[in-house]
Amino acid sequence: TLTCRGEQFRLYLTDEAIQERLQEIGDAISEEYEGRTPILVSVLNGAFMVTADLMRYITIDCEIDFMKLSSYGDEKVSSGEVTELKRIDANLEGRDVIVVEDIVDTGLSMQFILNMMESHRPASLRTVTLLHKPTSNDTNVPLDYVGFNIPDLFVIGYGLDYGQIARNLPDIYILDEE
Ligand code: PRP
Ligand code: MN
Ligand code: MG
Repeated sequence: TLTCRGEQFRLYLTDEAIQERLQEIGDAISEEYEGRTPILVSVLNGAFMVTADLMRYITIDCEIDFMKLSSYGDEKVSSGEVTELKRIDANLEGRDVIVVEDIVDTGLSMQFILNMMESHRPASLRTVTLLHKPTSNDTNVPLDYVGFNIPDLFVIGYGLDYGQIARNLPDIYILDEE
């Protein structure tokens, strides 16, 4: 177990398990986008780590760009409001866009991104998320590649923060319920 900001967490997904799954997703993307040059849109801050690792498992040409959203602030629950802190710079018109998230929880962030994407007119649009909380995704956003479905409990590590810390942990930890 691990203590973060006075709360107890237990190891949930090892770095090894994460990498193994990302390799599979990277393989699938390389196969499905063969002959095209997709652009990964990484959602800062949380997705920086998964994007860097996933990109290294993609064996076809691909590009990357970043946008930055915030909805959790320093809390364990969503504020219910998504703030765009940095816009995408790339021109996505006619591009094969793959949005990369670390986690889809309520789905509000992903919904915000998908709504925003409409005006960019990409040729195709798919979504990747390392983690998905099916029980919490009441917005029902479409997800194309999901690393792991997880219970509706707070998780940290591997890019995911609690009050901005814990992103540097190589493994993912889940809040110990009792
Ligand atoms: C977290 C996470 C996702 C989003 C998922 O970001 O990285 O982007 O929340 O939650 P949702 O499905 O309920 O919208 P956060 O707002 O904490 O910003 P951060 O990435 O900078 O940590
Ligand atoms: Mn995020
Ligand atoms: Mg966060």
